[in-house]
Amino acid sequence: MNSQNKTSILPPIEGTLPVRRTPLSWEVSFYRSTVGKKIIVAATGFIGFAYVALHMLGNLLAFEGPARLNTYAAFLKSNGGLLWTARIALMVAVVLHIVMAYQLAWRCQKSRPIGYYRWRGIASTFASRTMRWSGPIIGFFIIYHLLHLTTGTVHPDFHPGDVYRNVVMGFHVWPVAVFYIVAMLALGLHMYHGVYSMFQSVGANHPQYNGLIRKLATCVTLAVVIGFISIPVAVLLNIIS
Ligand code: HEM
Repeated sequence: MNSQNKTSILPPIEGTLPVRRTPLSWEVSFYRSTVGKKIIVAATGFIGFAYVALHMLGNLLAFEGPARLNTYAAFLKSNGGLLWTARIALMVAVVLHIVMAYQLAWRCQKSRPIGYYRWRGIASTFASRTMRWSGPIIGFFIIYHLLHLTTGTVHPDFHPGDVYRNVVMGFHVWPVAVFYIVAMLALGLHMYHGVYSMFQSVGANHPQYNGLIRKLATCVTLAVVIGFISIPVAVLLNIIS
C-alpha cells in the first residue's frame, strides 16, 4: 500500500498552522498493536520451539555413539551459507520474541498502575506465573551453552569438531550437568505455557478445544524436556561414556 498518496492535511484550528498527517502503513500499525505483538511473540516462539525440538532429536544421536553424532554435526556445518542464514534467522526470532514479550508485559502493567488489592491466580497456572523467571533463565542458559559447547570458552577439555567427546566431558562436571537439567525444567515450564498461549494468540481459543490444546502442550513439552535431560543423566550414569 502506498501511504504517500493518503497524506491528509487537517483543517487548521484558529490561530494554528495546518497539521500534515500521514496514515501509518499496515506493517507499522500491526507492529504497534497489542494483537500484532502477540502474533509476533507466537510466531517467533514457534520458530524457537521448532529449533529446540529438532536440536533435541539430533542430540539423541549421542545414544548411537560418537561416529553418528559427529557425522551429523559435521553435516550441519558443511554448508556455511545455509548455517549462517539459519543462525541469523534464529537470532532475529529470539530478539523479537524477547522485545515483544517485554513490551506486552510493560503495556499490561501500565494498564493497571495500581495493583490488585488481593491477587489470587485462579485462572493461571504455575507455568504462566513463572514466565518472567523461566524466560531469563533460558536466556542465560543459551549464552552459557554457546560458550560451553559451541565455542568451548568455558569447557574444561574442548576439541573442535569432536561434539560427542565435548558433550561427554562437559557433563562429567556434575554441577554443569545439574545446571543443564534445571535449565531444561525452566525451558519445559516456558514451553508448556508458550505452546498453549500460541494457540490463543492465533484465535484458537474455544472451551471445547482448550483441554485438547493443554494435552498437546503437555505432550510436546514432556517429549522435548525428557529428550534433552536424558543426555546429561546418561553421562552421569555412565550410559554414555
Ligand atoms: C542437554 C541439552 C542440550 C545438549 C546436550 C546440547 C548440545 C549442543 C551441542 C553439542 C552443540 C554444538 C554443536 C556443534 O558445534 O556442532 C549445541 C549448539 C547449540 N545449542 Fe544446544 N544442546 C542442548 C540444549 C539446548 C537448548 C535447550 C537450546 C535452546 C534453548 C540449545 C540451543 C543451541 C544453539 C542455539 C546452538 C548453536 C548452534 C549453532 O552452532 O549454530 N541447546 N548444542
